[in-house]
Amino acid sequence: KKDTIILGIETSCDETAASIVKNGTEIVSNVVASQIESHKRFGGVVPEIASRHHVEQITIVLEEALQEADMGWDQIDAITVTEGPGLVGALLVGVNAAKALAFAKQKPLVGVHHIAGHIYANRLEKEFTFPLLALIVSGGHTELVLMKEHGSYELIGETRDDAAGEAYDKVARMLDLPYPGGPHIDRLAAIGEETIAFPRAWLEDGSYDFSFSGLKSAVINKIHNAKQRGETLKPEDIAASFQASVVDVLTTKTLRAAKEFNVKQVIVAGGVAANKGLRAGLQAKFSETDIPLLIPPLKLCTDNAAMIAAAGTIAYEQGRRSGLDLNANPSLLL
Ligand code: KG4
Ligand code: ZN
Repeated sequence: KKDTIILGIETSCDETAASIVKNGTEIVSNVVASQIESHKRFGGVVPEIASRHHVEQITIVLEEALQEADMGWDQIDAITVTEGPGLVGALLVGVNAAKALAFAKQKPLVGVHHIAGHIYANRLEKEFTFPLLALIVSGGHTELVLMKEHGSYELIGETRDDAAGEAYDKVARMLDLPYPGGPHIDRLAAIGEETIAFPRAWLEDGSYDFSFSGLKSAVINKIHNAKQRGETLKPEDIAASFQASVVDVLTTKTLRAAKEFNVKQVIVAGGVAANKGLRAGLQAKFSETDIPLLIPPLKLCTDNAAMIAAAGTIAYEQGRRSGLDLNANPSLLL
């Protein structure tokens, strides 16, 4: 059987990325140009700056992806691109580059959901076994998704307010840590102790939804009250206590869902999957079961285009095609 060679393009937030993936499982090239340095001094991603950077970088990144793969356009079977969700101006750069290339090179075009990409980053490590449960935790998402087969996504739980990564970034900002704050909280949490009993948002019985805004407020109040009383709280203890609450809820709900839906595999995806506390917490809980847990390596947890090509390969093989009227959709549903 002939190999399927897919080009992936990702520009939904602050990484301009292009990658070539073989058969949906093997990375041939993977180029990521990060803009984090440009957004740092603003404490978050500035959409207009992100779009401009994407415009500057997209051609270079695409050329590098082909060069690194040592491949020509004749070898590419299809062009896949993140069509949403994300920042509209940022998405538009990738979508338009993909459309222009699909037209110029006469290649099929396939729009991909960003979260499907995060999920499929795992397949670059290990083949999927269904039914499968995916915990997606990123700067914009906190979701539990049940997959019964390739390309099918059932949302069983999601955040009702902040995403997990967003909560990390906000708490980091309260502690005057640089953006993106997740990794800094993670580092501090490792040396701190859970001295503060922050709330856990379990929500109603049986719910797989999440909520992090109450926790965020509890952290703000704690810091504020301590300041007023002249008490000093150790930042590492705040980080450890905050992380303990997040990890407790994420791991407990993931384990409960995995058991209820009798899944054969649990995968973790998104930037917060890089979190050491979450990784350790999940490993501890799932080691007591016979459900295999798969967490991708750090470089596949954060935004990249290999994951888009991997998810795009399945969509392409299933016959899904986008027209040249493909548009960026900032609130695309999975
Ligand atoms: O998936 P991603 O790269 O972009 C989105 O699609 O959102 O995720 C970025 C998020 C940021 O909120 C960042 O702070 C968080 O992932 N993050 C972490 C860690 N590394 C990245 N959060 C907690 N612990 C980490 N080690
Ligand atoms: Zn992402």
